[in-house]
Amino acid sequence: CRIYHYTSLVSTNRTARELAGREAPDGTLVVAEEQTGGRGRLGRGWYSPCGKGIWCSVILHPPVNPVDAPPLTMLAAVAVCSALRRAAGVEAGIKWPNDLLVNGKKICGILTELSAEMERINFLITGMGINLNLTAADLPAELRTTATSVLIETGRPVSRVAVLQAVLTELEHWYLLWLQDGFAPVLARWKEFSVTLGRPVRVASLKESWTGLAEDVDENGALLLRLPAGELKKVV
Ligand code: BTN
Repeated sequence: CRIYHYTSLVSTNRTARELAGREAPDGTLVVAEEQTGGRGRLGRGWYSPCGKGIWCSVILHPPVNPVDAPPLTMLAAVAVCSALRRAAGVEAGIKWPNDLLVNGKKICGILTELSAEMERINFLITGMGINLNLTAADLPAELRTTATSVLIETGRPVSRVAVLQAVLTELEHWYLLWLQDGFAPVLARWKEFSVTLGRPVRVASLKESWTGLAEDVDENGALLLRLPAGELKKVV
């Protein structure tokens, strides 16, 4: 695969999107030492200081209908979760759909962006922000109660290259398995890593948020949330 490495970018997702528009092949990786305008889900930002984590995006061209693409974001969560266990000795769990948490705090966020026309995917960008060597003092005050890192959790710094290698190996493994066998094996592993199934959760979309019991996820990865009034709400 091709690797584009930058000292500083506004956002690796943004640069990946530009490269994808210029026919970058499947598996192209964009990685930056720092992001000055890292983007998170729901219009949030992503704190990405120089050399303290993995800020990267992978360009994919999955040969599927756009409606079958959402599982890819859960697939990326499975890949990063496996890689963190293997290469950093950190047992993160997944909060639906793709936040990676340790002790209730976020260690990795994933932002998937899709470009599609009609029935066809032009490209998909999977952006991953993995907090590795940030200390508590590195975190802005407003993130200290909600974010964590490998260093904070284990007391040891970790090689960014080693973790990135593990992430890419895992991503390739799960992506090829998904293409070959569909979403079921990915979902089975996702459920093993889930820290939210069977627990009360609050989930948000751009417009609304819901609180309830995370009962299950369906075969497409939608969350089945039992609302306090008893109704079962499907959140996609
Ligand atoms: C989230 O809100 O949880 C998703 C955060 C995703 C952050 C990563 S860092 C690399 C890539 N580039 C971005 O601008 N965002 C993603």
